[in-house]
Amino acid sequence: AEALRVGIAGLGTVGASVARVLVEKAAELTRQCGREIIVTAVSARDATRDRGVDLSSAKWFADPVELARSADIDVFVELIGGEEGPARASVTAALEAGRHVVTANKALLARHGVELAEIAEGKGILLNYEAAVAGGIPVIKTMREAMAGNTVSRVFGILNGTCNYILTRMEAEGLSFEDCLKDAQRLGYAEADPTFDIEGNDTAHKLSILTSLAFGNRIAAGDIYLEGISNITQADIRAASELGYRIKLLGVALRTESGIEQRVHPTMVPTASVIAQVHGVTNAVAIETDILGELLLSGPGAGGNATASAVVGDIADIAKSRPGFQHGPVFGRPAKELQPYRKAR
Ligand code: NDP
Ligand code: HSE
Repeated sequence: AEALRVGIAGLGTVGASVARVLVEKAAELTRQCGREIIVTAVSARDATRDRGVDLSSAKWFADPVELARSADIDVFVELIGGEEGPARASVTAALEAGRHVVTANKALLARHGVELAEIAEGKGILLNYEAAVAGGIPVIKTMREAMAGNTVSRVFGILNGTCNYILTRMEAEGLSFEDCLKDAQRLGYAEADPTFDIEGNDTAHKLSILTSLAFGNRIAAGDIYLEGISNITQADIRAASELGYRIKLLGVALRTESGIEQRVHPTMVPTASVIAQVHGVTNAVAIETDILGELLLSGPGAGGNATASAVVGDIADIAKSRPGFQHGPVFGRPAKELQPYRKAR
């Protein structure tokens, strides 16, 4: 089979890791996919920066939209970030040009996911986004493919690595909120604007995607009760601990008789509970269904390598797919059939 040609837009924490994995694991990926995967084109702002991987054979594009439309690629990998701007423009351009898309951009999907899914499904191409929720945990494939036929009643979890890292270190080491946040930024966990992490927006973006997969509704990120962790102090953490609790930022979505409830807020969880044992940058997602029962997935929720693992898995799925034998609709049901969001009273 012909090689799969990949264009990567964004060579930061995630993009550079993805490029590195594709180059360093090329032989193994070829064996697994039955064809080569080659990075043929890249785009970032600074053409001179060393990305820690040899990309000299890839064509450089200053404009990610041009890269998205380029005839040099079969798959467009968007790792720029942001719900509008170059991320939205380039993903839309790639889909309209008939290129498969892989993205880790939950902000973009929370806002425009359904319209992008409609374009992809209309063209019969793939829009894969495993890395957009819970970093390296394969929760999208689990909910969309492995749990077909299940009716979900509740999905909840720790969906932001930065916040869990901050809360864990504040409790375990008595460090200040600000110092922990600085470390999370240095380690590449935080968003370009860390307000999205600490005020809960990033958790809300991810939750809204899980809610749509769980309940078959149009994504409704704006309909989430939202409270972040920026006001949590050492005193709060100590008080919770004295009562036998730990503070975690949870995203929760459940189906009620009157509609769907979605919320994001710091929550006191019993110290002995499983969710309280999820430390540092680790994320956890709990899913409750009629057939399977209760499922708990946990694993690395942010960082270059963990996120690259999910992105590369999505690219490999495309390498293995054949026209006319694509996996199902982007959000589990055809985008046109997703139900209007009905908020619980
Ligand atoms: P970074 O800020 O590290 O990287 C962003 C990249 O985009 C940089 O290489 C930057 O170029 C490039 N870029 C910015 N604007 C443009 C533009 N106009 N044209 C071309 N390139 C541009 O972000 P991350 O790698 O951390 O995140 C990327 C995406 O992955 C985001 O959507 C994020 O939410 C998501 N994500 C991140 C995770 C993480 O742990 N970091 C985990 C899961 C998802 P330059 O380097 O030249 O400045
Ligand atoms: N900033 C995000 C986090 C990256 O800390 O979880 C992973 O989506």
